[in-house]
Parts: sequence; structure tokens; C-alpha cells
Amino acid sequence: MFKFFRQILFLFSPEKAHYLTLDFLSFILNIPGGKFLLSLAFPKPISQRVEVNGISFPNPVGLAAGFDKDGKYLKVWQALGFGYVEVGTVTPLAQEGNPKPRLFRLPEDKAIINRMGFNNMGLLQLQNQLKNRPEGLVVGGNIGKNKITPNAIAHEDYLKCFVELYAYVDYFTVNISSPNTPGLRDLQTVESVSGILGPLVEHRKKLVEKGSTYKPIFLKLAPDMAEEDLIEIVKFVNDSEIEGLVMGNTTLQRNGLVSPNASETGGLSGKPLIGLSNTMLQICASNLAEHKTLIGVGGILCGKDAKTKKEIGAHLVQVYTGFIYEGPSLIHASCLEWNKN
Ligand SMILES: Cc1cc2nc3c(=O)[nH]c(=O)nc-3n(C[C@H](O)[C@H](O)[C@H](O)COP(=O)(O)O)c2cc1C
Repeated sequence: MFKFFRQILFLFSPEKAHYLTLDFLSFILNIPGGKFLLSLAFPKPISQRVEVNGISFPNPVGLAAGFDKDGKYLKVWQALGFGYVEVGTVTPLAQEGNPKPRLFRLPEDKAIINRMGFNNMGLLQLQNQLKNRPEGLVVGGNIGKNKITPNAIAHEDYLKCFVELYAYVDYFTVNISSPNTPGLRDLQTVESVSGILGPLVEHRKKLVEKGSTYKPIFLKLAPDMAEEDLIEIVKFVNDSEIEGLVMGNTTLQRNGLVSPNASETGGLSGKPLIGLSNTMLQICASNLAEHKTLIGVGGILCGKDAKTKKEIGAHLVQVYTGFIYEGPSLIHASCLEWNKN
């Protein structure tokens, strides 16, 4: 069934196909009996609760950041069976992102190259969407900085997002690893990370003292980091008050691709990313303190890929590109493999 839909959708440009699908699924969910129809077409995975940092996730498979930047389709993700969704990356001000085309399919490689550049409707719009979030779905807020904000004051943008979203999400991911915002990856140093995370942790302390719920904070890193730089940041995280790491974002590497779009500029995701992302996940797992959390993202195309990330040390996983190529059955397959011995 999904393969049939995919064939039709791949006739459209990737960005158009993205919104066509999501608007169509939203429409179906809002008509009487629509939810039931969708559950017949895409059966939900069996419930498989995972407790991580005080949050009870319905299952360990989440939708990675960037798919639903403005939190417009939360009911769709829940109906398709995701255990959680990371909305964003959101920036304080709305921004258009890079000129189109900026999203490219590489079907022969089961991959995508994107140079979206944090297109999003801004913090207040996301906040409004989240006021109507569905019960029972775990929602993470992936936060970033505007393109026009210099790195020297990037911490102000992250704090704004954190403050405004605190009441509306279950956890935060601090994204300093998109390759499509000029200079963003330069923030992947202990000094910059400490300058960004410090104010968030302080703000959280104040809120919790006043009775707010404690919300975990994760840091999302690039798989292109040099090993020694990654280890330095992991050690910093061990001594910090944040909860863990998301490894990781898209890569700038282009090894072994055969698709015609392989030379497009941007971040590569999907099947060709799995080796690199697992190597970097392994480095994180080997150096991260036991009480910290690891979220594995990158190149999951089948249930076994999700299981491999668990075996390396991931407590949760996320998918993006694999979902485009394999559809909701990927969530099902990943959940099944997750609990196999
Ligand atoms: C079109 C597109 C947009 C993305 N936007 C974001 C984003 O806004 N923030 C972010 O942290 N990651 C973003 N990502 C990266 C994904 O969240 C994920 O880390 C990456 O694609 C690797 O996972 P995958 O191989 O399953 O796709 C984006 C990826 C794609 C393909």
C-alpha cells in the first residue's frame, strides 16, 4: 500500500510531496471514521513503553527533527504510531530558509540531501500549535538560532526558545549541528556549548524551584566531528547537568553515492549515513557516563538498523529519511526488533 502511494508522491517535487502527504493525512484524520481507516491502512505498533529521564515514551521510535518543524501534524504522527516527535528546529523569529529547490531525493541510494536552512514559522507560532497537542504523544522541542544572529550571541536565541517553549514540550534538543545555517557547527566546542547550555540549566532550576516539571535537555551533534572534539564534548556533558546527546545530524560526506543528485550542496541523510552515524554513536556510548542518555539517529531504514543502535547504546531512536522510503511500517519493524534478544 505504502509503495503505491510513494510511487505517486515521487512524481512531485520532494517539498510539494511532503506537504501534500501531511495535509492529506490531516484531512483524513479530521473526517468521521478517518482515524479508523488510517489504522486499517497503517496498523500501530504494539505498545512498548520506555522510561527515559522520567518520561514514559509509548515506544522508542521517534520522528526526527525537521519533518514537522512547526508542530502542525502531531495527530498524524500519533495515528501512524510514532512514540514521540521532535518538533523544530524552531528559531525565535520566523525565517524562510534557503531558496528552492533545497530538498533532493537520491532514490538509488535511499538518501536525501537537504539545504533547507531552518525554514520555520517562528517560536510563537509553534507555541500556539503546541497548545492543542494530542494527549499521550511525547513531544520534544528542537531549538536553534536565527541565521541573522551572530554566533557570539547565539545563546540568547537558544534561551528565548527554551523559555517560551518550556511549558509546551516534554524535553528539549539543542541543535548546534545543522550544516545549512552558516557557522552553526562552529558552536560545537566546549566553550560555546557551555555558554549555550549554562543559561538553559539555570533557567530550568528556577522554574523547577517554583514547581514546574523538570524537562530533560539533549544536545544534537554532527556525525562529521573529529573524534577528539566529540570526546571533549561528551566529557563536558558527563560533568554537566544536561541529560544526554542526540547523535546525530546529517553529514557533509558523499562517499559511494550513485544518484544523479549526489553533488547537491547540503546535508546527506538516509542509508549511506548509517555507518558513519553508528561509528560516532559508538564513540559517544564509550565515553558517555552511564546515567546519561543517548538518542541514535541516522540511516535507519529497517528494524535491524534500529536494533543495532540500541546494541551500541541508544536508549531511543529517531527516523527521518527511512520513513520517506519505507513508510510507517518502519516504526512497526523497529519496535518489533527493539525487544528481540
Ligand atoms: C529535509 C530535512 C530537514 C531536516 N531538518 C532538521 C532540523 O530542522 N533540525 C535538526 O536537528 N535536524 C534536521 N534534520 C536532520 C534529521 O533530524 C536527522 O538527524 C537526519 O536526517 C539523520 O536521520 P535519517 O538518516 O533518519 O534521515 C533534517 C533532515 C532532513 C532530511
